Amino acid sequence: MGSLTPLQKDIQRLAKANHTIIFSHNYQPPEIQAIADYVGDSFGLCQKAQQIEADTILFCGVRFMAETAAILNPDKLVLIPDPSARCPMAAQLPANLIQEAKKQHPGVPVVLYVNTTAEAKAEADVICTSSNLCIILKALDTNPVLFGPDGNMAEYAHHVCGYEVIPIPDYGFCHVHVTFSFDPQVLQWKETHPNAKLLVHPECAWNIQEQADFIGSTGQMLQYARASPNDTFIICTEVDLVTRMRSEMPEKTFIPALDYAICKAMKKITLEKVKASLLNNQYQVTVPKPIADKARMAIQRMLDLTS
Ligand code: 13P
Ligand code: SF4
Repeated sequence: MGSLTPLQKDIQRLAKANHTIIFSHNYQPPEIQAIADYVGDSFGLCQKAQQIEADTILFCGVRFMAETAAILNPDKLVLIPDPSARCPMAAQLPANLIQEAKKQHPGVPVVLYVNTTAEAKAEADVICTSSNLCIILKALDTNPVLFGPDGNMAEYAHHVCGYEVIPIPDYGFCHVHVTFSFDPQVLQWKETHPNAKLLVHPECAWNIQEQADFIGSTGQMLQYARASPNDTFIICTEVDLVTRMRSEMPEKTFIPALDYAICKAMKKITLEKVKASLLNNQYQVTVPKPIADKARMAIQRMLDLTS
């Protein structure tokens, strides 16, 4: 993105005056990514949340990401510009489902995807993201583990990491990423662009993952494209990762496998709401201490095992 608009400059000025650092996930629209101090994937954002010195974190993403930052920073103010920006997949795994699964499988470790509520995380032994599931499973080195909520990542655990997982719930999913299985356009790109590399997020179903040249998180896809000698990439994830790739690597070609793969929850964050958030200290993301203390242990274990 070129120069900033007056609204974007206002936001940066206010953030500086309020000692606020702005985080953005890779799925945020380009005008939000442009005003952020740090743009990254779920794991990068967790790591960064542990390192910052600012008084306030303003999180442009979905609620579970802001909650994770709040859990890691109990003494800081964490704001989300729209409290209704929630990942529907996180809602598919209420804490009571995990408690029931633990009763049915006593002693089996619980690995939860970061796309979960704080209450669910409080039931976990360790958290993972799409960038480190294999690392976490290898560190535990136990078969099986309980894993949720994403059923496609459970497939990834089996086929790519080589570990068996018991999924909770039976089949959790991201509605944005499952769409790639239902549109023939996705694999036609490979036919029309035989030299292109197909990069796939592990939230896509296995029939798409198995066609991939590379499977990884949004941050890992970026790294792959940066390091690759190839110049054309077909991207199976949310469209605004493609926007970031195009602006960072204008000499390469990035094709969104589906140009309608849009996460509406992520797009609830707008510049106007970011400004209102800074002006009014809204909306504060808090997690009750007993939940946060338990969830923090599971998140910290992920950070320790991945470092
Ligand atoms: P990443 O951790 O790959 O950024 O993914 C987050 C997410 O919500 C994917 O849908
Ligand atoms: Fe949740 Fe899917 Fe949106 Fe990621 S893309 S935040 S998993 S709904």
